Order: sequence, then structure tokens, then C-alpha cells
Amino acid sequence: MITDSLDKAIQALTNDEVVAIPTETVYGLSANAYSERAVKKVFDLKKRPLLNPLIVHIKSASYLTEIAQNIPDMAFELAEKFWPGPLTLLLEKQSIVSDMVTANKAKLAVRVPDHPLTLGLLERLPFPLVAPSANPFGSISPTSPEHVHRYFGNSVEVILDGGECKKGIESTIVGFDNHQPILYRLGSLPQEEIEKITGKLLTNTTNNQSPDAPGMLSRHYAPDTTTYLTDNVSNFIKNFEGKRIGLLLFKNRIQNTFVCHQEVLSALADLDEAAKNLYAALHRLDSQNLDVIIAERFPDTGLGKTINDKLERASKRP
Ligand code: TXA
Ligand code: MG
Repeated sequence: MITDSLDKAIQALTNDEVVAIPTETVYGLSANAYSERAVKKVFDLKKRPLLNPLIVHIKSASYLTEIAQNIPDMAFELAEKFWPGPLTLLLEKQSIVSDMVTANKAKLAVRVPDHPLTLGLLERLPFPLVAPSANPFGSISPTSPEHVHRYFGNSVEVILDGGECKKGIESTIVGFDNHQPILYRLGSLPQEEIEKITGKLLTNTTNNQSPDAPGMLSRHYAPDTTTYLTDNVSNFIKNFEGKRIGLLLFKNRIQNTFVCHQEVLSALADLDEAAKNLYAALHRLDSQNLDVIIAERFPDTGLGKTINDKLERASKRP
């Protein structure tokens, strides 16, 4: 059921049920982070391998010391600057958090989401919430309550309606190796913003053998339709004459009669707007019965970098 009732959400979560929650980035499938029974249900619903850990959502940075320890000063600085907001920190966990949440890793992922409904929810709960993106493992993340409902139907009883997500791409993940900050996942907080505090970040965003984050798998965020990423759409579509083609474009439509469907992410060439629209456009393209989706490469700065990263993963062959 899609609802805006916090009471219904609180009741379900207190009973160890899974509730879909809005955040500024994407919708999450949330459950009591202190209940293994509840956490297990999230893995089952998502069909997510137990090896892939979950992000814990807390109501404020002051809650950090309850779940994490040996926190680097720079982590506090980043939390102070960017929370509530789309930054996830990887920190050494306290034993109050079960190993199931972190998939037996010593580090815990944590963030304070920036959405009034979900902050109100966290405020009223005596426990934090795990919440991976509310999509089956590997597919496109949901940015509206309807996307979540399409994926899970009534197997998620409460979908909390917080409207469309204002950022539209997952949080950026930063961890520390010996106090040295490392970027693990590009997300909706631009790398450049973080680097104003940390200085140049080391990056470790691809690892297929033992991914520290499934967002690091080279194929992820993927539509079912075969997807390509190219610098020159007009030329590239010539390879697909006679096929049902869908386009994902930055600012301009293409003049071409045999293309079935075109999605322009920002007519004003605004990368924030493009990021916000990216997943909804991929969801629409993926439901058009197309033979191929052809995406245009974005300018490689700010959120353009994040968009390119998601499109590269979406266009990797399985
Ligand atoms: O914006 C977001 O972060 C959304 C919203 C709902 O908050 N959540 C989200 O969760 O994107 P998920 O599970 O789809 O992606 C979380 C990423 C995964 O790639 C996971 O492997 C990584 O974070 N992660 C979580 N815990 C980790 C840990 N302890 N160590 C390393 N990576 C971790
Ligand atoms: Mg995800």
C-alpha cells in the first residue's frame, strides 16, 4: 500500500516488517537495523546475496558513536558538513550492529538521509534502519513510490509516499584506510564537493572479485534492455537501422525519424536536473519494448561523472 501514514510505518517496522521509505537519493527497503529477523527479510525481498552489506540510516550525527567507533576526525567533519544528505561513511562498527548488516565486514556504512518524512520516522523509532535501494538486486533504483510498487507489488506492505526523490541517484560512499579517505561509490554528492574538505580523494570504485560495495560491480543499475553508451549518438544509431531504438540524451533531441522514444534529461543542460531524472527515464525506456537503449556520454564533471559511471555499469554486457 502506498501511504503517507507514519503510524502505519512505525507499526510495521516495530513488528519486524519491511517498509519502503523515501530519501533524497532513491527509495529504500527499510527494516529495524537491530533485528536480524527484520534485516534478513530485506535480503530475501531484494534477492540480494548475503555477502553484500547494508547501509544503516540514523537520525543525526550525534547517534554515530552508538554504532561506530574509532571514528576519524575527518569523518566527523564530513558528517557535520553534509548530513542530513547524500553521503555514506564507512566506519568501524560497534558490536550492537549485527554481522548480518555488514556481511561480516569490520566496517559499517552509515548515513543521515535528507527527507522530512523519513527523518520524522527515525525520530520516533527506538532503533536505526537498514535500507538498501528498493529494487531487486542489480536493477535500476526506484525514485518514486510507483517504481517500488512495480517491483514488489504487495510483498512490501507499506510504501511510505514521500513523492519523487529530489536527488535521484544513490549516496556517495567514502571510507578510510588508516585515516586516508577513499571514494568507494560515485553518487549524488559530487566528488569535488567532498574534496573541498578531504583534498584529492583516492578512488576504489570497481572491484568484481570481492566487491566492497555491489555498486562497484562493473555491471549494475542495469535495464533489461540492451544498453549502449556513446560519445556520438547520431553516428552510433546508424548501426541499428530497422531496430526499435530508445535514446537517453543530455539536452537536445536528435532529428531522426526511426527512433521510437527519446528521453532528454535536462533541456537547460543542468547536471543536477539530469541526475534527478536519470533513473525515471531509464525505467520509462525499459518499459517500451525496445531492442536497444542508446545513451549519450555526459560532460565528465560534477554529477556528470556520476551519471557516466551509472551509465557505464548499465551498459556492461552480463
Ligand atoms: O542513497 C543510498 O545510499 C540509498 C538510500 C536508500 O539510502 N541506499 C543504497 O543502498 O544505495 P544499496 O544497498 O543499494 O547500496 C549500498 C552500497 C552497496 O554497494 C554496499 O555494498 C555498500 O553500500 N556497503 C554497505 N555497507 C558496506 C560495508 N560495510 N562495507 C562496504 N560497502 C558497504
Ligand atoms: Mg542499490
